Amino acid sequence: MISISPLARSDLDRVSHLELAEGQDRFVNPVAKMTTGISARVDFHMIENDGAAVGVFKIGHDYSQKHGFAQDGEAGLMGFLVGHQYQGQGFAKAALAIMAKYLAATYPKMNSVLLTVNCDNPAAHHVYQRGGFVELPELYFGGTTGPQYAMRLGLTGKAA
Ligand SMILES: CC(C)(COP(=O)(O)OP(=O)(O)OC[C@H]1O[C@@H](n2cnc3c(N)ncnc32)[C@H](O)[C@@H]1OP(=O)(O)O)[C@@H](O)C(=O)NCCC(=O)NCCS
Repeated sequence: MISISPLARSDLDRVSHLELAEGQDRFVNPVAKMTTGISARVDFHMIENDGAAVGVFKIGHDYSQKHGFAQDGEAGLMGFLVGHQYQGQGFAKAALAIMAKYLAATYPKMNSVLLTVNCDNPAAHHVYQRGGFVELPELYFGGTTGPQYAMRLGLTGKAA
């Protein structure tokens, strides 16, 4: 069964075995890079399947400072990945199915969360849509890897 839990800085080695498939570093930093030089305003979360770490993501609380489409103070979900060893088994879909409930319980003051996903990353775009993320009207052209969809997930049951 899939579960999500906060991942302390001191436990980051629990996700160090998660690899990317060739070319996926275009979409997300490898775990080693993602877990070094981190801002204090970023939290890590681990996705487990029956107790085995299969994925990771970050919540960035300064997201709105760098992303013009965000509302003031709105957080961002970043670096979402399922290790290559575990991809294609429904783990991302299962994690995203419980994401809104998990984030609402973990961050009681959070009403919504944003992310960007590369237009050339249909698998990720698909799982985010299935998980309830809704595209914003404008594409995001920041970053170095081409246009991205900006998507928002409401955590309150109301439209975000
Ligand atoms: C994207 C990613 C998170 C998906 O994780 P996963 O555990 O393999 O995904 P799942 O097995 O839960 O589901 C994959 C879904 O994508 C679909 N899919 C796969 N390739 C696809 C494609 N080219 N186009 C559309 N959908 C695709 C599958 O059909 C499946 O959906 P379905 O169950 O509705 O049929 C994973 O591949 C990953 O970590 N990639 C590298 C990092 C990354 O790109 N992160 C996103 C950054 S924004």
